Amino acid sequence: MRTAGPIVQVRELHKRYGAVTAVQSVSFDVIRGEIFGILGPNGAGKTTTLEMIEGLRRPDGGTAVVDGVDVRRDPRGVRAKIGVQLQEAGFFDRLTVEETLTLFGAFHRRSAQSGRLIDRMQLGEKRRAWAGSLSGGQRQRLSIAVALVNDPQIMFLDEPTTGLDPQARRNLWDVIAEFRQEGRTVILTTHYMEEAQRLCDRVAIMDHGLIVALDTPRALIREHAPSITIGVTVTQGQASFETLPGVRDVKTQDGEVRLSSTDPLQTVHALMDLNRQGSVHFQQLRVEEGTLEDVFLQLTGRRLRE
Ligand SMILES: Nc1ncnc2c1ncn2[C@@H]1O[C@H](COP(=O)(O)OP(=O)(O)OP(=O)(O)O)[C@@H](O)[C@H]1O
Ligand SMILES: [Mg+2]
Repeated sequence: MRTAGPIVQVRELHKRYGAVTAVQSVSFDVIRGEIFGILGPNGAGKTTTLEMIEGLRRPDGGTAVVDGVDVRRDPRGVRAKIGVQLQEAGFFDRLTVEETLTLFGAFHRRSAQSGRLIDRMQLGEKRRAWAGSLSGGQRQRLSIAVALVNDPQIMFLDEPTTGLDPQARRNLWDVIAEFRQEGRTVILTTHYMEEAQRLCDRVAIMDHGLIVALDTPRALIREHAPSITIGVTVTQGQASFETLPGVRDVKTQDGEVRLSSTDPLQTVHALMDLNRQGSVHFQQLRVEEGTLEDVFLQLTGRRLRE
C-alpha cells in the first residue's frame, strides 16, 4: 500500500562518537520518486546519517520513518524495503559476480534474477570473474547490482561514483536517472558538486554534522550564489569595467577579465556599447552561472574538495 506524503521522514537525528558530534539534529523529508542528494566534504556526517536511516546504526536521538516504518522501532522492517549500496562494500574475493548476487539475493524474501541485474549493470563479461579481480568501476557497479537485489522502491547510494573516471561516472548517472524513471526514490551522498547539481532533484548541503541548506540546486544557487560571471577577452583598449552597471567585482585571470555581476543583462548591454563605440575590442564573451561550489563557499567560508 502506498502512503501519501513524503516516502522518508527524518526527524532530529543525532549521533555522537565520544567528543565528536557526527550528526546534529538532522531533519528532512524525501519525496517519492525524487533523487535526493546529501552533499558535503569528508567527515560531514553523510554516511552516519544514511546508515541511521537504513537501520544500520542506532541514533542517539531522533528517528526516521521509511515508507511508513519507524527505523527505531523496526530496523529490520526498514531494511526489507530498501536497497543499500555501502561506501565500502565487502565482497568475497573468491566468489564470482554471479555467485555474489545469488548470495545476497538469498538474504531477501523477494529477489531479482541475478542474470538481469548483471546485464543491467553491464557486467555480462564479468559474470564468471571473481569479485576480487574486478576494477574499481566494476566493483562499484556490482555494489549497485547488490543494492537492487530485492527490487527496492527506495535506494540508498553512498558516494556511488567516487573513484570512477568521468565516462564511468556519466554512465552511472544515466543508470541512477533510470531508477527515477522507474518510479524509485534515490537518496545518495556525494562530495562532487557537479554530480549533485546535474543529477539531484534536491540537495541537502551538510557540514560538521548539520544541514546548512536544502533545496533544488537552482534555488540554492539563486539564493546563495546569485552573481553571474561574465568573462571577456579584451584584444584592444581599456575600460573601467568597475563602473559598468551591475558589476560588483572585477578580476583578471588567464588573460580574461572576469566581471561579477548582479544584473548580467545590463552589464552585457554596456559591454556591447563599449565594443560598438570602439573604445574596447573584445574577442569573446562568456556568461557563467554560480555553482553549488560557490553556494558551499558562501555558506561555510570553505571550498568543497573536488
Ligand atoms: N564508528 C565511528 N567511530 C568514531 N567516530 C566515527 C565513526 N564513524 C564516523 N565517525 C566520525 O563521525 C564524523 C562523520 O563521519 P561520516 O563517516 O558520517 O562522514 P562522511 O560525511 O560520510 O565523510 P566521507 O565523505 O569521508 O565519507 C567524522 O568525524 C568521523 O570521524
Ligand atoms: Mg561517508
